[in-house]
Amino acid sequence: MSIIMRVYYGAVVNPQTLTDTQLLPRCLLAVGAAGTIEWLVEDVESALVQQALVEKGCADAEVVELRHGELLMPGFVDTHTHAPQKPNIGSGQQYELLDWLEHVTFPMEAKFADVDFARRTYKSVVQRIINCGTTTCCYYATLHLEASKILADIVHESGQRAFIGKCNMDRNSPDHYREASPEASVADTKALIAHIANYPSSDLQRVRAILTPRFAISCTPPLLFGLGKLAASDPSLRIQTHISENRGEIAFTKELFPDCASYAHVYDKFGLLRGNTVLAHAIHLEPAEVELIKARNAGISHCPTSNFNLSSGVAPVGEYLDKGIKVGLGTDVSGGFSPSILNAVQNASIASKVIAMRSTAPSSSSLFANRQLSVSTLLFLATLGGAQVCALDAHIGSFAPGKAFDALLVNVRNDSANPNLWGVDPDMEVRDNLMGLLERFLFCGDDRNISGVFVQGRLIGGTSFRK
Ligand code: GUN
Ligand code: FE
Repeated sequence: MSIIMRVYYGAVVNPQTLTDTQLLPRCLLAVGAAGTIEWLVEDVESALVQQALVEKGCADAEVVELRHGELLMPGFVDTHTHAPQKPNIGSGQQYELLDWLEHVTFPMEAKFADVDFARRTYKSVVQRIINCGTTTCCYYATLHLEASKILADIVHESGQRAFIGKCNMDRNSPDHYREASPEASVADTKALIAHIANYPSSDLQRVRAILTPRFAISCTPPLLFGLGKLAASDPSLRIQTHISENRGEIAFTKELFPDCASYAHVYDKFGLLRGNTVLAHAIHLEPAEVELIKARNAGISHCPTSNFNLSSGVAPVGEYLDKGIKVGLGTDVSGGFSPSILNAVQNASIASKVIAMRSTAPSSSSLFANRQLSVSTLLFLATLGGAQVCALDAHIGSFAPGKAFDALLVNVRNDSANPNLWGVDPDMEVRDNLMGLLERFLFCGDDRNISGVFVQGRLIGGTSFRK
């Protein structure tokens, strides 16, 4: 057995499935020196903690005892965000997608040609996202190679787990913000992959490159072909893109690719739809596309805040879940106006209620379609579901021996100073109310309630890190 670095004792929330959350008010959880979970003992009376440690052979381990109103849970997985759009957060929300890209987004992203601006901006963006509780993040950068390397370096240094994508885009954007050719785009992508592959192997591939064809509209067929070839050369290379977000976008895509049966078929034609593809939005999919995505085992990043904010629509995620399609949550900053997955959780709940209210009674055979999402389902989407979407569920997303300790220490006590959570009594008996605490955190909490953010056992953010 490897050396135990730390043992936590207290309330642990552990997502298991879309409908089942393990609630462990008196759990002992041991983290090894490599930042991996060594063991969990589910229910230990406080008088028996020392005895349990002796039995596990680690009587001298440092024990961190959680207080009433504190809990440990797996860190959030943000399956879709745009780091360079953070300066635009909360602006330009009068537009729908294609106008918003032209008037708001491309002008901001073009500024990342300036590496000093990129460094300054990305530094604050990454730490802010970490403090929101995102332990794994799928980042889009811009089309610029140098700025994308800077983002990867900052993320690497921060300790966060992440995928970094340099946008591939060689058409349908302004001359000054478009790649010169498919060859140049693929060459820069390879250069970013090589740069990231040079990080020390001791980091267990914590930071990885991800192929990022921005969306079909941005990519010529030769570029998609080149990216498909690159993807085929490395089956472990993740791919992220946008799909079926906006009706105007879908119509334009069909015009650009008249030989493809649907939007999803464009990506499939070029070998970009597979088990480690992350598809953002997926709001207006046709039945054949849903079947294709299921057949390829691609995952969907549900970005409800963005979908409301850009008036894109409401994604029927319940239908996807009924079919067994992998779904995670994304903030999609700055289409979405919050960098926090908590906000995505809240709007995913509202989105599911909008669908349920619009529909006639759900069919008795559906577990999720046309129903509101439960707290367990929302928690799953924010953690293990997101891990499945980025093909990391063997390593993160829940607590189990052998998995990385990627975790949040949550504090819903009055002393968290979040007035939205006023009234949570620190002396209450947590055992009876752990689900209630979790629900209040998910719906009323914010970064003031996240005192520790751990990736691979290392504290990298949260209020205790900032002190
Ligand atoms: N489709 C293509 N680019 C983007 C983007 O930056 N944000 C969103 N929400 N959709 C996109
Ligand atoms: Fe996006």
